[in-house]
Amino acid sequence: MPEPIIRIDNIVKRYGPLTVLDGLSMDVMPGEKLALIGPSGSGKTTILRILMTLETISGGHIEVDGEQLYHMPGNGSLVEADERHLRKMRAKIGMVFQHFNLFPHKTVLDNVTLAPILTKGVARPAAEKRAMELLDMVGMADKARHVPAQLSGGQKQRAAIARALALSPRIMLFDEVTSALDPELVEEVLNVMKKLADETDMTMLLVTHEMGFAHDFADRILFFDRGKIVEEGKPDEIFRNPRQERTQTFLRKIIAAGHRV
Ligand SMILES: Nc1ncnc2c1ncn2[C@@H]1O[C@H](COP(=O)(O)OP(=O)(O)OP(=O)(O)O)[C@@H](O)[C@H]1O
Ligand SMILES: [Mg+2]
Repeated sequence: MPEPIIRIDNIVKRYGPLTVLDGLSMDVMPGEKLALIGPSGSGKTTILRILMTLETISGGHIEVDGEQLYHMPGNGSLVEADERHLRKMRAKIGMVFQHFNLFPHKTVLDNVTLAPILTKGVARPAAEKRAMELLDMVGMADKARHVPAQLSGGQKQRAAIARALALSPRIMLFDEVTSALDPELVEEVLNVMKKLADETDMTMLLVTHEMGFAHDFADRILFFDRGKIVEEGKPDEIFRNPRQERTQTFLRKIIAAGHRV
Protein backbone atom coordinates (compact mmCIF):
# COMPACT_ATOMS: atom_id res chain seq x y z
CA MET A 1 0.00 0.00 0.00
CA PRO A 2 1.58 3.36 -0.96
CA GLU A 3 1.83 6.15 1.59
CA PRO A 4 -0.51 9.14 1.34
CA ILE A 5 1.04 12.09 -0.52
CA ILE A 6 -0.91 14.47 1.74
CA ARG A 7 -1.66 13.83 5.40
CA ILE A 8 -3.79 16.46 7.08
CA ASP A 9 -3.80 15.86 10.80
CA ASN A 10 -6.15 17.69 13.13
CA ILE A 11 -5.88 21.08 11.45
CA VAL A 12 -7.44 24.01 13.24
CA LYS A 13 -7.83 27.36 11.49
CA ARG A 14 -9.20 30.41 13.24
CA TYR A 15 -9.77 33.94 12.04
CA GLY A 16 -10.04 35.83 15.30
CA PRO A 17 -13.04 34.38 17.14
CA LEU A 18 -14.21 32.40 14.10
CA THR A 19 -13.11 28.76 13.90
CA VAL A 20 -13.16 27.86 10.22
CA LEU A 21 -11.51 24.43 10.38
CA ASP A 22 -12.13 22.50 13.53
CA GLY A 23 -9.76 19.56 13.79
CA LEU A 24 -9.79 18.54 10.14
CA SER A 25 -8.02 15.31 9.25
CA MET A 26 -7.79 13.65 5.86
CA ASP A 27 -5.34 11.72 3.70
CA VAL A 28 -4.88 11.91 -0.04
CA MET A 29 -3.21 9.09 -1.94
CA PRO A 30 -0.72 9.73 -4.76
CA GLY A 31 -2.54 10.18 -8.05
CA GLU A 32 -5.92 10.47 -6.38
CA LYS A 33 -8.51 12.85 -7.87
CA LEU A 34 -10.50 14.34 -5.05
CA ALA A 35 -13.47 16.70 -5.20
CA LEU A 36 -14.38 18.88 -2.22
CA ILE A 37 -18.00 19.97 -2.14
CA GLY A 38 -20.08 21.74 0.46
CA PRO A 39 -21.93 24.92 1.35
CA SER A 40 -20.48 28.40 1.06
CA GLY A 41 -18.26 29.22 4.02
CA SER A 42 -17.60 25.58 4.95
CA GLY A 43 -13.82 25.95 4.62
CA LYS A 44 -13.10 24.47 1.19
CA THR A 45 -11.01 27.38 -0.08
CA THR A 46 -9.33 27.68 3.29
CA ILE A 47 -8.00 24.13 3.18
CA LEU A 48 -6.66 24.60 -0.36
CA ARG A 49 -5.01 27.90 0.63
CA ILE A 50 -3.47 26.19 3.65
CA LEU A 51 -2.06 23.46 1.39
CA MET A 52 -0.65 26.18 -0.86
CA THR A 53 0.97 27.78 2.24
CA LEU A 54 -0.95 30.99 1.63
CA GLU A 55 -2.29 30.93 5.21
CA THR A 56 -1.04 30.25 8.68
CA ILE A 57 -2.56 27.44 10.74
CA SER A 58 -3.81 27.63 14.33
CA GLY A 59 -3.06 23.99 15.16
CA GLY A 60 -2.31 20.56 13.73
CA HIS A 61 0.15 19.18 11.20
CA ILE A 62 0.28 18.62 7.46
CA GLU A 63 2.66 16.30 5.70
CA VAL A 64 3.19 16.61 1.96
CA ASP A 65 5.27 14.06 0.06
CA GLY A 66 6.85 12.78 3.27
CA GLU A 67 7.75 16.18 4.73
CA GLN A 68 6.05 18.54 7.14
CA LEU A 69 4.51 21.56 5.42
CA TYR A 70 4.30 24.18 8.16
CA HIS A 71 7.01 22.64 10.34
CA MET A 72 10.56 21.43 9.91
CA PRO A 73 12.99 19.50 12.06
CA GLY A 74 15.01 21.62 14.46
CA ASN A 75 16.39 21.25 18.00
CA GLY A 76 15.41 17.59 18.06
CA SER A 77 11.73 18.33 17.52
CA LEU A 78 9.55 20.14 15.04
CA VAL A 79 9.79 23.91 14.77
CA GLU A 80 7.86 26.35 12.64
CA ALA A 81 8.94 26.22 8.99
CA ASP A 82 11.02 29.12 7.73
CA GLU A 83 10.47 30.86 4.38
CA ARG A 84 13.06 28.68 2.67
CA HIS A 85 11.34 25.47 3.74
CA LEU A 86 7.94 26.85 2.69
CA ARG A 87 9.34 27.80 -0.73
CA LYS A 88 10.72 24.32 -1.23
CA MET A 89 7.43 22.70 -0.23
CA ARG A 90 5.37 25.12 -2.33
CA ALA A 91 7.18 23.94 -5.46
CA LYS A 92 5.46 20.56 -5.10
CA ILE A 93 2.03 22.13 -5.38
CA GLY A 94 0.29 24.16 -8.09
CA MET A 95 -2.93 26.07 -7.62
CA VAL A 96 -5.48 27.52 -10.02
CA PHE A 97 -7.86 30.13 -8.65
CA GLN A 98 -11.35 31.29 -9.49
CA HIS A 99 -10.09 34.64 -10.80
CA PHE A 100 -7.12 33.50 -12.92
CA ASN A 101 -4.53 35.79 -11.24
CA LEU A 102 -2.55 36.12 -14.47
CA PHE A 103 -0.06 38.97 -14.69
CA PRO A 104 -2.06 41.46 -16.81
CA HIS A 105 0.85 43.15 -18.60
CA LYS A 106 2.66 39.98 -19.59
CA THR A 107 1.95 37.72 -22.53
CA VAL A 108 0.54 34.25 -21.97
CA LEU A 109 3.97 32.82 -22.76
CA ASP A 110 5.66 35.08 -20.21
CA ASN A 111 3.03 34.21 -17.62
CA VAL A 112 3.85 30.54 -18.07
CA THR A 113 7.66 30.89 -18.18
CA LEU A 114 8.11 33.44 -15.41
CA ALA A 115 8.14 31.10 -12.40
CA PRO A 116 10.34 28.39 -13.94
CA ILE A 117 12.88 31.04 -15.00
CA LEU A 118 12.83 33.03 -11.75
CA THR A 119 12.31 30.36 -9.11
CA LYS A 120 13.90 27.31 -10.73
CA GLY A 121 16.59 28.98 -12.80
CA VAL A 122 15.42 27.30 -16.00
CA ALA A 123 17.02 28.85 -19.10
CA ARG A 124 14.57 30.87 -21.21
CA PRO A 125 14.69 28.68 -24.36
CA ALA A 126 13.98 25.52 -22.33
CA ALA A 127 11.25 27.28 -20.34
CA GLU A 128 9.61 28.51 -23.55
CA LYS A 129 9.78 25.09 -25.18
CA ARG A 130 8.06 23.51 -22.18
CA ALA A 131 5.55 26.38 -21.98
CA MET A 132 4.58 25.89 -25.62
CA GLU A 133 4.01 22.17 -25.00
CA LEU A 134 1.75 23.01 -22.07
CA LEU A 135 -0.08 25.72 -24.00
CA ASP A 136 -0.59 23.25 -26.80
CA MET A 137 -2.05 20.75 -24.35
CA VAL A 138 -4.59 23.30 -23.07
CA GLY A 139 -5.37 24.45 -26.63
CA MET A 140 -3.72 27.86 -26.23
CA ALA A 141 -0.59 27.65 -28.38
CA ASP A 142 -2.00 30.17 -30.85
CA LYS A 143 -2.54 32.71 -28.05
CA ALA A 144 0.97 32.56 -26.61
CA ARG A 145 1.77 36.16 -27.62
CA HIS A 146 -1.52 37.61 -26.37
CA VAL A 147 -1.92 39.47 -23.09
CA PRO A 148 -4.76 38.45 -20.74
CA ALA A 149 -7.02 41.36 -21.77
CA GLN A 150 -7.15 39.86 -25.27
CA LEU A 151 -8.46 36.52 -24.02
CA SER A 152 -11.85 35.13 -23.09
CA GLY A 153 -12.42 33.92 -19.53
CA GLY A 154 -12.06 30.30 -20.57
CA GLN A 155 -8.81 31.08 -22.37
CA LYS A 156 -7.47 32.95 -19.34
CA GLN A 157 -8.29 30.01 -17.15
CA ARG A 158 -6.61 27.55 -19.51
CA ALA A 159 -3.52 29.80 -19.54
CA ALA A 160 -3.60 29.81 -15.72
CA ILE A 161 -3.71 26.01 -15.72
CA ALA A 162 -0.68 25.89 -18.06
CA ARG A 163 1.12 28.33 -15.78
CA ALA A 164 0.51 26.17 -12.71
CA LEU A 165 1.70 23.07 -14.60
CA ALA A 166 4.92 24.76 -15.69
CA LEU A 167 6.55 24.06 -12.33
CA SER A 168 5.75 20.33 -12.72
CA PRO A 169 3.92 20.08 -9.41
CA ARG A 170 3.05 16.66 -8.01
CA ILE A 171 -0.17 18.08 -6.63
CA MET A 172 -2.63 20.44 -8.31
CA LEU A 173 -5.33 22.40 -6.48
CA PHE A 174 -8.30 23.87 -8.34
CA ASP A 175 -10.61 26.28 -6.55
CA GLU A 176 -13.88 26.83 -8.42
CA VAL A 177 -11.99 27.47 -11.61
CA THR A 178 -15.13 27.70 -13.71
CA SER A 179 -17.46 29.68 -11.46
CA ALA A 180 -16.43 33.09 -12.81
CA LEU A 181 -16.94 31.95 -16.42
CA ASP A 182 -19.86 32.45 -18.74
CA PRO A 183 -21.70 29.13 -19.04
CA GLU A 184 -20.61 28.51 -22.63
CA LEU A 185 -16.94 28.73 -21.58
CA VAL A 186 -17.16 26.29 -18.70
CA GLU A 187 -16.90 23.17 -20.77
CA GLU A 188 -13.60 23.97 -22.49
CA VAL A 189 -11.94 24.40 -19.08
CA LEU A 190 -13.51 21.27 -17.63
CA ASN A 191 -12.35 19.32 -20.68
CA VAL A 192 -8.77 20.40 -20.06
CA MET A 193 -9.02 19.32 -16.43
CA LYS A 194 -10.57 15.99 -17.33
CA LYS A 195 -7.76 15.40 -19.81
CA LEU A 196 -5.19 16.18 -17.12
CA ALA A 197 -6.93 13.83 -14.72
CA ASP A 198 -7.05 11.03 -17.29
CA GLU A 199 -3.58 11.45 -18.76
CA THR A 200 -1.37 12.28 -15.79
CA ASP A 201 -0.66 10.72 -12.43
CA MET A 202 -0.81 14.07 -10.69
CA THR A 203 -2.71 14.23 -7.44
CA MET A 204 -5.60 16.63 -7.93
CA LEU A 205 -7.86 18.36 -5.39
CA LEU A 206 -10.80 20.20 -6.81
CA VAL A 207 -13.32 22.47 -5.13
CA THR A 208 -16.40 22.82 -7.26
CA HIS A 209 -20.10 23.53 -7.42
CA GLU A 210 -20.30 21.59 -10.70
CA MET A 211 -21.63 18.34 -9.27
CA GLY A 212 -21.83 16.62 -12.64
CA PHE A 213 -18.16 17.34 -13.23
CA ALA A 214 -17.20 16.30 -9.69
CA HIS A 215 -18.97 13.02 -10.36
CA ASP A 216 -17.10 12.36 -13.61
CA PHE A 217 -13.73 13.66 -12.45
CA ALA A 218 -13.23 12.41 -8.93
CA ASP A 219 -12.22 9.07 -7.45
CA ARG A 220 -13.57 10.28 -4.13
CA ILE A 221 -15.87 13.07 -2.97
CA LEU A 222 -15.54 14.85 0.36
CA PHE A 223 -18.57 16.72 1.64
CA PHE A 224 -17.57 19.62 3.88
CA ASP A 225 -19.78 21.44 6.31
CA ARG A 226 -18.69 23.93 8.96
CA GLY A 227 -15.03 23.04 8.72
CA LYS A 228 -15.49 19.31 9.00
CA ILE A 229 -15.82 16.38 6.63
CA VAL A 230 -19.38 15.21 7.13
CA GLU A 231 -19.32 12.43 4.57
CA GLU A 232 -16.97 10.94 2.01
CA GLY A 233 -17.18 8.23 -0.56
CA LYS A 234 -17.16 7.30 -4.20
CA PRO A 235 -19.08 9.70 -6.46
CA ASP A 236 -21.95 7.25 -7.00
CA GLU A 237 -22.35 6.72 -3.25
CA ILE A 238 -22.36 10.43 -2.42
CA PHE A 239 -24.56 11.60 -5.30
CA ARG A 240 -26.99 8.69 -5.60
CA ASN A 241 -27.15 7.56 -2.03
CA PRO A 242 -25.94 10.16 0.48
CA ARG A 243 -26.21 8.85 4.02
CA GLN A 244 -25.99 12.05 6.02
CA GLU A 245 -28.92 14.39 6.36
CA ARG A 246 -26.69 17.43 5.73
CA THR A 247 -25.37 15.95 2.49
CA GLN A 248 -28.90 15.20 1.33
CA THR A 249 -30.06 18.74 2.10
CA PHE A 250 -27.06 20.25 0.32
CA LEU A 251 -27.57 18.17 -2.82
CA ARG A 252 -31.29 18.95 -2.87
CA LYS A 253 -30.51 22.68 -2.75
CA ILE A 254 -27.89 22.39 -5.47
CA ILE A 255 -30.32 20.57 -7.75
CA ALA A 256 -33.06 23.09 -6.97
CA ALA A 257 -30.61 25.84 -7.99
CA GLY A 258 -30.40 24.22 -11.42
CA HIS A 259 -27.09 22.41 -11.18
CA ARG A 260 -26.74 19.07 -12.86
CA VAL A 261 -25.82 16.14 -10.65
N1 LIG B 1 -9.12 36.28 5.60
C1 LIG B 1 -10.23 35.96 6.31
N2 LIG B 1 -10.55 36.63 7.43
C2 LIG B 1 -11.65 36.28 8.15
N3 LIG B 1 -12.48 35.28 7.84
C3 LIG B 1 -12.21 34.57 6.72
C4 LIG B 1 -11.07 34.87 5.91
N4 LIG B 1 -11.05 34.00 4.87
C5 LIG B 1 -12.14 33.20 5.04
N5 LIG B 1 -12.83 33.54 6.15
C6 LIG B 1 -14.03 32.87 6.65
O1 LIG B 1 -13.77 31.50 6.74
C7 LIG B 1 -14.93 30.73 6.42
C8 LIG B 1 -14.58 29.70 5.37
O2 LIG B 1 -14.27 30.37 4.17
P1 LIG B 1 -13.88 29.60 2.84
O3 LIG B 1 -13.52 30.65 1.86
O4 LIG B 1 -12.88 28.55 3.13
O5 LIG B 1 -15.27 28.92 2.47
P2 LIG B 1 -15.65 28.11 1.16
O6 LIG B 1 -16.11 26.76 1.61
O7 LIG B 1 -14.55 28.15 0.18
O8 LIG B 1 -16.93 28.91 0.62
P3 LIG B 1 -17.39 29.27 -0.89
O9 LIG B 1 -18.09 28.04 -1.39
O10 LIG B 1 -18.32 30.42 -0.72
O11 LIG B 1 -16.16 29.62 -1.67
C9 LIG B 1 -15.99 31.73 6.00
O12 LIG B 1 -16.84 31.95 7.11
C10 LIG B 1 -15.20 32.98 5.69
O13 LIG B 1 -15.96 34.13 5.94
MG1 LIG C 1 -14.35 29.02 -1.69
